[in-house]
Formats: sequence, C-alpha cells, structure tokens
Amino acid sequence: MQKEKLQDYIFPKNFYWGAATASHQVEGNNHNDWTEWEKSEKRVKDLKSSGLVNKHGLDNFVSGRSADHYNKYKEDFKLAKELGHNATRFSIEWSRIEPEEGKFNQKAIDHYKDVIKTLKELDIEPFVTLWHWPIPIWLRDKGGLKSSEMPKYFVRYAKKVVEVLGDDVKFWIVLNEPEVNTGMGYMLGIWPPQKKNILQYFRVTYNLMKAHKLTYREIKKINPKAQIGIAKQNVSFSLKKNTPVNRIIRCLANFYWNHVWLCSLKKYQDFIGLNHYFHCVVDYGLYKNDFKIVNDLGWEIWPTSLYECLKDLEKYNKPVYITENGLADAKDEKRTWFIYEMLKGVHKAIEEGIDVKGYLHWSLMDNFEWAEGYWPRFGLIEIDYDTLERKPRKSAYFYRDICIHNGIVVSTVDKYKKEIEKFS
Ligand code: NOJ
Repeated sequence: MQKEKLQDYIFPKNFYWGAATASHQVEGNNHNDWTEWEKSEKRVKDLKSSGLVNKHGLDNFVSGRSADHYNKYKEDFKLAKELGHNATRFSIEWSRIEPEEGKFNQKAIDHYKDVIKTLKELDIEPFVTLWHWPIPIWLRDKGGLKSSEMPKYFVRYAKKVVEVLGDDVKFWIVLNEPEVNTGMGYMLGIWPPQKKNILQYFRVTYNLMKAHKLTYREIKKINPKAQIGIAKQNVSFSLKKNTPVNRIIRCLANFYWNHVWLCSLKKYQDFIGLNHYFHCVVDYGLYKNDFKIVNDLGWEIWPTSLYECLKDLEKYNKPVYITENGLADAKDEKRTWFIYEMLKGVHKAIEEGIDVKGYLHWSLMDNFEWAEGYWPRFGLIEIDYDTLERKPRKSAYFYRDICIHNGIVVSTVDKYKKEIEKFS
C-alpha cells in the first residue's frame, strides 16, 4: 500500500448500504423480448460464427433458470441482512405483471408484494426499479419501445404497480440506464431489437423520456412523498494531455453521455440515481486508456472515477443514490480493493458537499450479464448455477464490515490489508 495515512471514513447518519439486482438477470424463467431474442435463430447464428459458443457454450447466453431468485428471494434477502445491508434495489418484471396487454397478473403482484414485505420485515429499504430493460412480448409485437403508444402503456403498468405496491415503497427508479439500452438496441444494434437506426434511436429516447415524465406525475398523485428518479450510467472523463481539442472533446462527450438525460428530466427527479462503471481517457479520441487494471470484462478500473462522477453532479443540487457500482471479478481478486477505493471517493465527495445518501453495489449476487451471458461474475454472493448454492465472497464480508460500521474503519482495513494492498 502506498504510504497512505490510515483513518476512519465515517458516512452520514442513515446512509443506505446495500446491493442491487434486476429481474431478468436473477429471477429466472422470465418470458419477455430478451428471452425470445436469446433463442432466436439470428442470435444463435451470430454467437456460433463469432466463436463465442465454442468459448462459453450456448447455455451461457440463455437466461433460463438464472439464480432462481424468483423462488429464493427470502433466502437471498436474509443473506443480505446477514451481510449488513439496510437497502436493496431490485426491479419489477413488466412481462410478469402484464403478460397480456392490459391484463394484470395477480399472482405476480402478490409475489412482489411479498418481496417488499420480506424486505421491510428485515428492516431493509426497498429501491424499486420499474423498467430494467426487457419488455413484454405483446409490446414487442406492437413495435416495442419505438411505438408511439409506448409511453401510454408504460404509465398504465407503472400506475398499477405503484397503486398495489406503493404503500411500503419510498424510492422508485422509473428507468434504468435508458441511454445504454437505446444505444445498444437502436444505434449499435447489439441488443434486442438489434436496430442500427438513428431515427428510431431518437424516437425511443423521446418515448422513454415521455414515459418517465408521465410516470413521475402519476406516482406523485398516488403518493406525494414518494422519491422518484432514474438510474443513469455516468462515465468519468479525463484528459491525457490538457489541450484545447481534448478539452472540447471531453466537454462534448461529457455533455452527451452524462447530462442529456439528467438535464431533460431535471424537473422530474427527486434524486439522481448514479450507476457507475467506466472511465474514459480523452486523447484526440475516446477511450485512449492504458487499461492497466481491468475487470474480467476488460473495463478499466480507475480508483477516483466514482468520485469524479459525483462531483460532476454538483450542479443538479439533488440527493444522489449510487444505484450501481461494481465489477466482474470471478476470482474476487480486486473487489475488496475496488470497494475500498470507490467508497473513499464517495466519502470525499460527501465531505466536499455532494449529498450522497446511499451506495448499492452491483450486484448482490452473480447474474445474467445480458449479451455477455453468465460468465462475468459481478456478485458479492457467488452463485453455483448447477446447485443454486449461494456463497458470499470474501469481499462481501469486507463490505459487511463497512455497512455495519457505517463507514470504513481502520480495523477493517487492517483485517483486509492483503486484499487492499494488492492493487494500491
Ligand atoms: C448496468 C446495468 O444496469 C446492469 O444490468 C448490468 O448488469 C451492469 N451495468 C453491469 O454491466
């Protein structure tokens, strides 16, 4: 470890500590546009021709049973409690609530009621996401997110959910990373519905923004005290050389990627939900990083990146909840150090006046990492996909100590010195 003076980093009172998941990634046995896409002829052909099937096997790319969290949520939340968490973010699966257009499934509603009740009984605050990407098949068949009717359909679903589940939920995250989903699905053509169509990209962006605004108003009508936001994935940008051209590139990239959504929805957010994974070095182009320390997906880990993103949110003057931050690290080699560095940054941002009120690590457990499938391991808890056994990783216990102490204390750092020193 560099000659860093050890000190306690204590967080504000009532800070939320926990982890996040999303329905399609952990529940298992969903039926939505993604599950259909995963098995589609085109997808399977693409996977085979790219050599990925040989590398990971076809099953890796099919969400299937996943971690079976739909049936094991009680066990999982009990474990979260044992790991010191006082908050959990999860998402409601639209295709379960409204499997047929306009028909709400009471069994699914009861399920999520019990999910929330379970969390409440454990004294864990639920942060509920309404849309974490997949859509019901009937909506896909009507044109999906680009349909001009989409905002109307979304609000109908959201309203129903908030009416039936809202009594015990204070925090609603209407949309998860809409900018990522629209970019991957409608500009780069990598995710369903695999379009590369700039007009559709703007259409979908417009629809999602409209859906968010309408939903915000509806939730406020039902519960004026509800706290509503989106989870926005922001990138920290730094310059290799401080030249005028590099500064302009950074300014444009930062505005386009980090602020378009947040500015457009400024009046419709009570808090900012920050998802954070990426650092981008600008050097007459983007992502000119050295990639010295990377996670299993090759994403560079930059110890101060979360701090930089938090500082960049200052102008909104709103409470911030870190709704996701984590890494794919199957061997759990870097997670402890990663959490340590990221949280030091959060602490510094708080000291400098950013109103950060919670940190939700991605993810509570290993899960289905979208087009990458199952091989990336983001979980504090390891999942054995054959036996469904849950096993907290060592870093989960490091994080538990932080949750319990409401901060990083010297004795914890001492205890985990070896893991932290490896990369410092
Ligand atoms: C953000 C997404 O919300 C989540 O679903 C995904 O697994 C993580 N990023 C990691 O890529």
